[in-house]
Amino acid sequence: MTVRVGVIGAGMIGQDHIRRLTEVVTGATVTAVTDIDAGRAAEVAARTGATALPTGADLVASPDVDAVLVTSWGPTHAEHVLNAIAAGKPVFCEKPLATTAEDCLRIVEAERAHGLRLVQVGFMRRFDPGYRQMKEVLSTGSLGAPLIVHCAHRNPTVPESYHSAMAAQDTAVHEIDVLRWLLDDEIVSAQVVTPRATSKRFAHLKDPQIMIFETSAGVRIDLEVFVNCQYGYDIQCEVVGEDGLVRLPDPAAVGIRTAARHGTGVLQDWKDRFAEAFDTEFREWVASVAAGTQPTGPSAWDGYAATVITDAAVRSLESGGETVTTDMKPRPAFYGGTA
Ligand code: NAI
Repeated sequence: MTVRVGVIGAGMIGQDHIRRLTEVVTGATVTAVTDIDAGRAAEVAARTGATALPTGADLVASPDVDAVLVTSWGPTHAEHVLNAIAAGKPVFCEKPLATTAEDCLRIVEAERAHGLRLVQVGFMRRFDPGYRQMKEVLSTGSLGAPLIVHCAHRNPTVPESYHSAMAAQDTAVHEIDVLRWLLDDEIVSAQVVTPRATSKRFAHLKDPQIMIFETSAGVRIDLEVFVNCQYGYDIQCEVVGEDGLVRLPDPAAVGIRTAARHGTGVLQDWKDRFAEAFDTEFREWVASVAAGTQPTGPSAWDGYAATVITDAAVRSLESGGETVTTDMKPRPAFYGGTA
């Protein structure tokens, strides 16, 4: 079966995912596109061979759409995801699932009422080969219990529109999701402290930030978010256990020796760093929809948890560095918990 996908939001990542679905992944075709910018929807649809539809609700209701991809602005996600659940259609929602914990819970409740998982959230790092190798090593137990995690998330620069809360909401949210999954543990508190600020930032921005998370098992995670580091897009992650450690590999790159130096290049762009992860994410999602099975990627619950934890980090930042306990509901059995 070829999965007919309808795309809500034909902006930067929407267009990249349309390319992925049409040129990289087999078994999918994009049949419908909508955007509040009707001109953009028409242009992208014409290029893709899809139909441009007026609204997200029209797209979800279309008989030519088997599954929905939501790549519109964050505050609009909840409405589209709830529409898809009401129509009983699988829906892949780019992060965030919703911008408030309340909206995330509405989605969780709607999906539970439906009785089967329909929602997958776009946390692509779980599909990155390096993180998957780390997960395999940790699952064997050969490192003993994890104790500490050291992470860094660095971007060369950010635009002026990037503000201090986005360090948690848009940047650290990827570590928050992937570490919950890697450790198979929940984050219970967040603290954000700000060292000396780089002079190479817009004046309104607190950069860098150091985030410290604690999990329910007592693991301490330190994460440096530094979005004006100048030199490249650099993701580091090291889990220290009782009997050893496991470290995320840097992307493969040729070694260059010249002018009395030996080195490798550093990627500049997150799209290049996680290109393979995005491809695998969509390959696996399309395969699950085609097979009529429930998605196994990040769930609506994971989307809820990420929003609750980023809220705690933002509250800590705004309080000047207090430790903030996350305000998370007990995890329902439907999502692998006990409640
Ligand atoms: P963008 O601004 O380039 O594109 C968003 C598009 O959605 C625009 O064309 C806009 O007109 C349209 N839109 C907004 N509200 C709409 C609505 N209600 N119905 C239909 N169309 C609507 O933004 P970008 O960078 O593509 O981001 C989109 C989403 O993807 C965001 O939630 C962002 O956080 C997420 N994202 C995730 C990434 C990841 O690493 N997983 C990377 C980049 C973005």
